[in-house]
Amino acid sequence: MTSPKKVRIHHFREMKQRGEKITMLTAYDFPTAKAFDAAGVDMLLVGDSMGDNVMGYDSTVPLTIDEMIPYTRSVARAAERAFVVADLPFGTYEVSPEQAVESSIRMIKATGASAVKFEGGRRIARQVKAVTDAGIPFCGHLGFTPQSETALGGRRIQGRGEHGVEELVADALALQEAGAFAVVLEMVIAPAARAVTQALDIPTIGIGAGPDTDGQVLVWLDAAGVGDWHPRFSKQFGAVGQALHDAAAGYVAEVKSVAFPAPEHTFES
Ligand code: KIV
Repeated sequence: MTSPKKVRIHHFREMKQRGEKITMLTAYDFPTAKAFDAAGVDMLLVGDSMGDNVMGYDSTVPLTIDEMIPYTRSVARAAERAFVVADLPFGTYEVSPEQAVESSIRMIKATGASAVKFEGGRRIARQVKAVTDAGIPFCGHLGFTPQSETALGGRRIQGRGEHGVEELVADALALQEAGAFAVVLEMVIAPAARAVTQALDIPTIGIGAGPDTDGQVLVWLDAAGVGDWHPRFSKQFGAVGQALHDAAAGYVAEVKSVAFPAPEHTFES
C-alpha cells in the first residue's frame, strides 16, 4: 500500500483494518508542522497542550479559542499531507450541543483544520452527535482528560478498578455511535486500551496507553527532547532543547567576539 498524497478521514479506518499504525504528533506553528508533515506524520494535533507547552500556563484550562486560532491556522497552512485536528479548549463545548457546534464551526472556518477534538465520553455524546451531524469530523479523547484534572483527582492513570475497563469501553462506544472517526486514549492501562481498541471499528490513538492501540500520539516537545523532563510514557527521539541551547550560545559567543558577521555575511557595496 503506497502512502496517500493527502491523508483523508477514510484512510484512518483503512489503516486500522490492515494493521498499519497511525502516527500523530502535536504541532503549534508553521515551521514545526512543516517538518513533521515532511517526516510523514499522518495527523497533526493542535492540542490544547499549547496552554502549558507554548503559552506558559500552569494547565490547559486558561487557554481560549481566540488564542488557538492563529496557531491552528499556521499548522493547517503548513500541512500538505497530514490531516490536521484542532482541540476545542475548556469551556467551549460543555454547555450544550449548540455551543459545541458553534465553537467547532468557528474553529474550522477560521483555521482550515480538518477536524475537532474535545474531551469526554457519554457525558458529551450529544455534543459529538451535533458536531458530526453538522458535517465536522470529530476525534474523541478518553482516559486521563487534562481539562478535568481537578475532578479526576490529579494526573492519574485511568481504566483501573472493578469497572474501569467497562466504563472506558462504554464511553468509547458512545463516541463511535455519535460519529467520531477516532478516539485518543490518554494514560490508560494497557489492558483497557486493548479492550477499547478491539471493541471499536474506528481507530484508537494512544498516549501512555501501551502498544496495542491503532496509533500513537505524543506532545512534540516531549518527543523531540526540548525540556529536561518528559512523562514516563513518552520517549525523547531527539535532543532539540540541547541543540537550541548550543545554537543560541554559539551565536552569543560569536557576536561578542566579533567572529560573526564574517566577510561572507557582509555587503560592502
Ligand atoms: O492537547 C494535547 O496535546 C492532547 C494530546 C495529549 C493527545 O490532547
